[in-house]
Amino acid sequence: MSNYDATSDCIWQELDKINGWFTREEAICMQWIMKQLPPESKIVELGSFQGRSSIMIASALSTDSILYCIDNFSESLDILSAFMNNIAEYKVNNKIRFLIMDTIEAAKEFEDKSIEIVFLNTNHSYESVKQDLLQWCPKIKMGGFLICHDYTSPDHLEVRDAINALQLNGTLLCGSLWCGQKS
Ligand SMILES: C[S@@+](CC[C@H](N)C(=O)[O-])C[C@H]1O[C@@H](n2cnc3c(N)ncnc32)[C@H](O)[C@@H]1O
Repeated sequence: MSNYDATSDCIWQELDKINGWFTREEAICMQWIMKQLPPESKIVELGSFQGRSSIMIASALSTDSILYCIDNFSESLDILSAFMNNIAEYKVNNKIRFLIMDTIEAAKEFEDKSIEIVFLNTNHSYESVKQDLLQWCPKIKMGGFLICHDYTSPDHLEVRDAINALQLNGTLLCGSLWCGQKS
């Protein structure tokens, strides 16, 4: 059991205790972004796995903001169980709603222009990333952000290819994170 205090600013120090790929610099960067958001913001994470990035994001949100974690957890129920245990252990479950769904289906649950930030980190194939982008970009508010993991990962070049194919304007943030603003 972790002794982590959810009011602390240093949850990124706990990162390596949670399975996943999100790096320390990505965690710190995302936490800074979350702290700039207005109250009652709505964030969507596509692909949560065991909650490593979810916990980093949710812990930096104001108490009236919500992180929607969308994952089909199709690889195993153990991953879902680890996700649920982790968000409880790090005391962020009150800021998280999770939807056990395919991302394309889940998009139907959100109104257009209703989300401050969509964070994409699901299947890394070209077609899957492209379909996620096509479904989810319309959901982002004007001035909101799309943030994609693995843009620069040599093992996942199809992520970059799909973003570039749709001619989305954006820039590298840090680590493998790419960010584009909705205009
Ligand atoms: C790379 S992991 C996410 C890692 C997580 N963001 C982190 O940093 O710890 C990708 C996740 O996407 C989920 N996934 C893949 N394709 C999906 C789809 N089409 N719909 C919903 N979830 C999907 C997988 O179940 C997996 O848990």
